[in-house]
Order: sequence, then structure tokens, then C-alpha cells
Amino acid sequence: MEEKQIDESRQGEFLEISSPIIAHKPQKKLLLESYGCQMNFADSEIVASIMAQEGYITTRDVEEADLVLLNTCAIRDNAEQRIRGRLEFLNSVKKRKPAMMVGVLGCMAERLREQLLEEEKLVDMVVGPDAYRDLPRLVSQVEHGSKAVNVLLSREETYGEITPVRLDSNGVTAYISIMRGCDNMCSFCVVPFTRGRERSRDPKSIVEEATDLFNRGYREVTLLGQNVDSYKWNITAKGEIVDANEPTVNFAQLLASVAEVSPKLRLRFSTSHPKDMTDEVLITMAKYENICDYIHLPVQSGNSIVLKRMNRGYTREWYLDRIAAIRKYMPECAISTDVIAGFCDETNEEHADTISLMAEIKYDMAYMYKYSERPRTLAERKFEDNISEEVKSQRLNEIIAMHMSCVTERTAAHVGKRHKVLVEGVSKKSQEHYYGRNGQNVVVVFPKNEAKMGQYVWVNALSATAVTLIGEIDSYID
Ligand code: SAH
Ligand code: SF4
Ligand code: F3S
Repeated sequence: MEEKQIDESRQGEFLEISSPIIAHKPQKKLLLESYGCQMNFADSEIVASIMAQEGYITTRDVEEADLVLLNTCAIRDNAEQRIRGRLEFLNSVKKRKPAMMVGVLGCMAERLREQLLEEEKLVDMVVGPDAYRDLPRLVSQVEHGSKAVNVLLSREETYGEITPVRLDSNGVTAYISIMRGCDNMCSFCVVPFTRGRERSRDPKSIVEEATDLFNRGYREVTLLGQNVDSYKWNITAKGEIVDANEPTVNFAQLLASVAEVSPKLRLRFSTSHPKDMTDEVLITMAKYENICDYIHLPVQSGNSIVLKRMNRGYTREWYLDRIAAIRKYMPECAISTDVIAGFCDETNEEHADTISLMAEIKYDMAYMYKYSERPRTLAERKFEDNISEEVKSQRLNEIIAMHMSCVTERTAAHVGKRHKVLVEGVSKKSQEHYYGRNGQNVVVVFPKNEAKMGQYVWVNALSATAVTLIGEIDSYID
């Protein structure tokens, strides 16, 4: 069985996006597709902004594209295979349209570098995640007939002052990247190699971006980082203060300052790391009504020995203590997770610990994957990928079945209650219905009545599917 993402609202994350943007002197057309995590989608909005300065407007139609950029993911082998398939298709188009330029951006570009240009000859341009400011020069190099590559990683780049062009936007919700890279070395993970060292963005520019979004009618922002709890400004990784005359800012403090932009601006964030999540963050979340009661806290495995092999920096007991802390400060807080099935040397008993942990916590949402060995990672060098595909699939199926029984129960518990919902868009299934989410990130569908996009409404939940609530508006908030 294939990997499953149960939550439909996040499935868009793994689909391509491409949409028209506005530029002053449109001359050329860009097809920009994004794959992978939310951070890649946020990066594409930076890329669209940089290319808009060069006169590029975006298109969804490959036939009219002068330039195609794929912002890629390398997290698992099947993510890369999908992109290879797309590149082969683009190559077939290029045979008919030789002037069309094709570039690979993002994590797969960083991982494969020149290989994509030289051995595989699939593309004209390879650009790593820290080199997007160089795109105009690289594109012009390709226009002049040569291949172009820049995969330099940076210790400083945060694209802090570049105003993203919001792609495929509903005008209500937006992502804000608060940091880049990752300094953890989880043994299964390719991200530290593709994204480089962790660095945090200036909190002033983050608050400004949130304020600007709010003034333009947005009502929800999601702060993004691979490990948001490790956000730090004016403090080095070793804990030393950089400038004694400037304030230091940690993640809890950053959350508070974004929450204060307006009580009408909802705040979410991702991803929290169990080893770094502090009570201070939880207390801040509990204090501000507009910080949603929702935490994505990936566990990966429920067994402490596997967690050690994964180099995650916590044990099962530590993780359960963090869950207890969340429930102490926010009894209604929703919790989601990522789980990996069939990591190197995982025994049946170790796998059973993951199942029992899931039964105990009853996650509101989960992303569940089969382990996929990634070149250069610690696990690839130290351990053998020795769990067969068959066993991985079987374990993944057990994990999915356990999660589905929990999530159905969790969703059903919301029925009969009133939920504060931000109206995000028209339901895909019916023009007469809106959809939005409650603070706990559960999708709620309801008849439109007098509601407007970007408005908060109280919705009575009348019934539920496994992951969605169906209701009707009780009252309008503003
Ligand atoms: N920074 C986040 C995770 C980012 S990657 C964190 O630390 O939790 C998103 C998820 O992909 C991970 O949580 C993990 O569950 C999964 N993943 C990462 N590498 C993987 C691999 N080699 N095989 C299978 N799943 C993997
Ligand atoms: Fe990968 Fe671990 Fe960093 Fe997450 S915290 S991005 S899993 S190395
Ligand atoms: Fe994929 Fe890179 Fe994100 S590997 S998950 S796009 S950080």
C-alpha cells in the first residue's frame, strides 16, 4: 500500500501549484510548480517575487511557458521519482519547443546538483534553496546558450526583506517562513543536507509581513520552520548574545508579537520538535485566543531505542511528558504527528510500541510513511535498510488503521458543539457551501448563508465524516 496522508486539507502540500501573478511589464511566462513541504510552497512565493521583477508572469499552461521551474522535494525516493517523471514529460515538450527553459529548484536540485545537468541531461538550470536571488543571472546565462547552476548554501540567507507574491491564494490564509535550514541530524533525514544550517529571520520583518497581510485582508498566518522551537534572534546556536544593545527573541516571544498584530489574525505554526518544545511556548499559546490550539509534534516512533537510532534526541517518556504538558495548559488542543514505519532494524515489538503510543495519544491528524533510505544520511552510512517492503507496508497499514480509528473518534467528539470557524473558501463539492477550519484545524463545511470569505463565524457541528465536520452557521462574529 502507498503512503497515506489522511488530512485532505494538507494534501495540497504535495500537489503542484501554479497560478497567475501580476507584474508591471509582462514579457515572458513562467510555469512554477511546487512539490514537498509548506516551506517549499513559501519559497515559490519568493521565487515568483524575484521573477516578477524580471517581467515574468506565471501561467498554468506549459504550451505558453518560456520558463518552467520545478521547486522540488527530496525527502523520500518516491518524491524524487515523481519529479523525474515530470522532467521527462517536460523534455518531450522541449523537443517541440526548444526555446523553453527548464530549471530544477529546491531540495532535489541541492541533492543532485550537476548530476541533473551532466549525467541525466534533463534540465538547463539547477538552483539550490539559498540561491534564488541569483535566478535572474542564471536564467540569462541559459538564454545565452549555456547551462547554469548555483547550489551554494548560505549561513545567512533568509530572504527576509523580499515580499512574497502570494500564489494560488484565497486571500485569507498565508504562510510566513520564520527560519531556514535545520541543525538537527535525525539519522533518516536529508533536510540538513538540502537546506543547510539553521538560521532565523529578523523578527521585525516577520511582524511586518504579518501586519501587511492583515491589512490586506488576510486572517490567518502559519509560521514555518523545520524546528520552530529552535527559533532564536540575537542569540547564537551556543546561547551567546550577539548584540548586547538589542533584545533577544525566542519562539514564544515571537509568537506573542505576531499574536499582537491583531486579535482577528489567527496564528498557526509548524513544525514543533519534541526535544525543544518549551512550557513557555504552551503558556503563550494558552494566553492568546488567536493562537490556534493545534500542535504538530512529530513522534516518528513510539520506541525509545528506535528514537535513539533515529537520533531524535528524546525518548518515549519524554514525548509523553510533552503531550501531558500540552494537555495541562490547553486541554482542548489538537495534536498531530508524523510516523515512519519500518526504520532500520525495527523489530515487531518496537513497531508495537508505535501502535500503543498512537492508541494512548489519539492523534487528531497523522502523516504516515514507509522509511525510505536517503543518500548521505547517518542512517544510510550506519545502518542497513533491512526491513522488507512487504513488512514496511504491513506495519504502515497497521499504523494507518490505528490512526483512523482514533481520528474518527476525535472528529465525532466535535459533533454537537459550536466552533469558531474562519471562512476560507467555497467547498469543492458544492457551490452553496463554504469550508473553513476551527482552531483545532478540523475542516468544517456549512451552507454559505450571509457569510463572507475571511470572516469568522460560529458553526454548530451537526454531523461528521472521518475527518470533516458538517454544520450550519449559528452566528456571525464580525
Ligand atoms: N522537521 C520536521 C520534519 C520534516 S520532514 C520534524 O523534525 O519533524 C517531514 C516528515 O517526513 C518527517 O517528520 C518524517 O516523518 C518524514 N521523513 C523524513 N525523512 C524520511 C525518510 N527518509 N523516510 C520516510 N519518511 C521520512
Ligand atoms: Fe529532518 Fe530532523 Fe531536521 Fe526535522 S528536525 S528537518 S526530521 S533533521
Ligand atoms: Fe522536501 Fe525539502 Fe521540504 S526535502 S519536505 S521540500 S525541506
